[in-house]
Amino acid sequence: MSFEVADTLDMSTPAAKRASYDLLVAQVRSVLEGERDWLSNLAQFSALVYQSVPQLNWAGFYMAHGQELRVGPFQGKVACVRIPFTRGVCGACATSREIQLVEDVHAFPGHIACDSASASELVLPVVVGDRLVAVFDLDSPATARFDAEDSRGFAAAVAVLAAGTDWPASFA
Ligand code: SME
Repeated sequence: MSFEVADTLDMSTPAAKRASYDLLVAQVRSVLEGERDWLSNLAQFSALVYQSVPQLNWAGFYMAHGQELRVGPFQGKVACVRIPFTRGVCGACATSREIQLVEDVHAFPGHIACDSASASELVLPVVVGDRLVAVFDLDSPATARFDAEDSRGFAAAVAVLAAGTDWPASFA
């Protein structure tokens, strides 16, 4: 496969951001085309996001194992491995199955600081049928880095990933 990934997507204005997320979703489709292996797809997805989306210091997955999350494919610094559903922003996402947008992680009760540089966070559930298989976690060193447009963009990208991947039954 030969595939050129845009190095840094322009997110400087609301219109540019919208167009950039359209491009990101198209790139996710291209990168995952012809491959349904979960480990390959999650590794590629994390790398694509980390390479092309500005102002991130961590991007990756925590996989669902019962009432616990365990770190999966990611880009960024070494992170905490196990997170109970009862803890942190990732746990709140896993429990509620709703996107968690945290403008200031220091103001979020129970936030787990894997990297002291992180200032804001966005976590999206990865739901397949009625199963929560993983959460996709994004950290930024900038306060209030993420807004509703980022939520919408990443939700669209995660939906392409969820549909284009075979998820082992052990993730639930
Ligand atoms: N901050 C997350 C933990 C995971 S790291 O950011 C990679 C949380 O509070 O759940």
